[in-house]
Amino acid sequence: MKNGLFITLEGPDGSGKTTQSAYLREYFDIRGIETVFTREPGGTAIGEKLRTIILDRANSEMCDMTEALLYAASRSQLVHQMIRPALKEGKVVICDRFIDSSIAYQGYGRQLGDPVRVINELAIEGCMPDMTIFMELAPEIGRSRIDPAALDRLEQEKLEFHNRVFRGYKELAELYKDRFVCIDASRDKEAVSRDICRALDQLLEDRGFSCR
Ligand code: TYD
Repeated sequence: MKNGLFITLEGPDGSGKTTQSAYLREYFDIRGIETVFTREPGGTAIGEKLRTIILDRANSEMCDMTEALLYAASRSQLVHQMIRPALKEGKVVICDRFIDSSIAYQGYGRQLGDPVRVINELAIEGCMPDMTIFMELAPEIGRSRIDPAALDRLEQEKLEFHNRVFRGYKELAELYKDRFVCIDASRDKEAVSRDICRALDQLLEDRGFSCR
């Protein structure tokens, strides 16, 4: 079974996940810990093709359940091809978005509810994150950080949609207190990074990870 560490980054669009992901790379490099960085939707050749279909603004006719199933399909491939093998080799896997994104965006945002959790549990076959870093930021602030011309099909949704997504995240954080680490992402990126590093120090210590 798995003996690596599985860490996911979650949060509204524009919450700074990509910036923090670069800091995380540095954090693990300095400690000589082998990591695999990946993202969703995508991360595999098949997943990247699905990503193009999912995020294409031209696909305005896509129904909500198709969207949910495509995200789950991309995730299933990623778990099978990349995440599970890396964890078996004892690596640290860091994934930019995972199952909680689907529950928040498709379950709450699209209002598809609990079936989203069910299809995703099938997709991940028990491969749940050890730690989920939740970048907590009001959706309207996140949105204001993104160039309007570059918004993808999901990002261009109305503010009510993004507010529902955020509510979903907050409920997930409450439900899965054991793995969620909530970070106030409204602050400057160094302050955010410091909090994340502190949480990681604790996780590595708890799991007995030896560092250089
Ligand atoms: P992301 O790659 O984080 O956006 P960016 O390219 O700006 O970094 O995610 C793309 C969009 O997909 C984002 O709006 C969130 C959405 N999404 C879902 O709706 N459900 C999911 O399961 C995932 C993984 C992402």
